[in-house]
Amino acid sequence: MAAEPPLRVTTPGDLRAWSEASRREGLRVGLVPTMGALHAGHVSLVRRARQACERTVVSIFVNPLQFRPGEDFERYPRRLDADLEILRAERVDAVYLPAVETMYPAGATTRVRVAELDAVLEGACRPGHFEGVATVVLKLFEAARPDRAYFGQKDAQQAAVVTRLARDLDTGVEVVVCPTVREPDGLALSSRNAYLGQDERRAALCLVRALRAANAAYAAGERDAAALGTELHEVLAAEPRARVDYAEVVDESTFRPPGTLAVLAVRIGTTRLIDNHHLGTPL
Ligand code: PAJ
Repeated sequence: MAAEPPLRVTTPGDLRAWSEASRREGLRVGLVPTMGALHAGHVSLVRRARQACERTVVSIFVNPLQFRPGEDFERYPRRLDADLEILRAERVDAVYLPAVETMYPAGATTRVRVAELDAVLEGACRPGHFEGVATVVLKLFEAARPDRAYFGQKDAQQAAVVTRLARDLDTGVEVVVCPTVREPDGLALSSRNAYLGQDERRAALCLVRALRAANAAYAAGERDAAALGTELHEVLAAEPRARVDYAEVVDESTFRPPGTLAVLAVRIGTTRLIDNHHLGTPL
C-alpha cells in the first residue's frame, strides 16, 4: 500500500497537541530538525528516529536567526514538494512547517546562548550563529516535546551545542548524534553542495583528503594535535580554490585542543563547507 503523506502542522500549539496525543497512547516521539532540501544525510536521521520511536516528526524551517547578514539565507535551497515526497516515502508521521512570523512574531527577543562552546571555531567564525541554532532548537523541543531528537555528526559543534543545551535546561530530551553520510568519493552530503560548480565539486574533495591525511598520520602514531593540524593545512594548501577558515584537532566536547576530533571549515569559491572526523576511526 502506498504510504500516506505526513500530517502537516504549522503552529506550536498544534504540534504539541499531536505530540501529547501520541504520548497518551504510549507512543514515543522522535524529532528530526532540518532546514529542508533533504538528502541522504537527513534521511539517515529519519530512519534512526523511526527505528527507535513509534512516532516521528520532521521540522523544515530555514531559520533566519542562525544566518548572519551577507550569508546565504535568501538563496538557501527551498524544495518543499520534493522534501514532502521524501518524507512520505520514509513514512514520517508529521512534518512541522512553521512560518517565520509564527516562529518569531514581532517582539520575540528571547535568545538562548550556550556559553564557551559558542566562542570557538564555528562560533568564532559565525558570531551569533549558535545562538540562532540554540534558540530555534529549544523552541522546536518545546513545540514537539520529543522523547528523542536526532542530529548529524556532520555538524559536530552544533551537535555538541544542542547536547549541552538539552542537559543544561533540563529538557528531558535525549539527543542522538548520527554518523556523517558521504558521497561515494567521500564528500560529506550537505544541502550547500548544490551551490558547487563542476570544478568546485572536484576541489571540495580537499576536505575529506585532509581528514584522511590526518587520520593516516594518527594511525602511524602521531598524537601531537598541532602536528596533526599541520597535516590538515598542508593538504588544504595544495588546493588553489580552497580558503581555510580553520583546520584543527580538538577535544570533542570543548572544541579546544588537545583532542582527537579533526574539524575544518573551508570556502570553495563562495560556498562554505565544513567537515570533521574522529581520528583513529575508519574513513
Ligand atoms: P540542516 O543543515 O538541514 O541539517 C539538519 C540535520 O541533518 C543536522 O542535524 C545535520 O547535522 C544533519 N546532517 C546534515 N548533513 C548530514 C550528513 N551528511 N550526514 C549526517 N547528518 C547530516 O543543521 C541544521 O539544518 C540546522 O542548524 C537546524 C539544526 C535544523 C537548526 O535550524
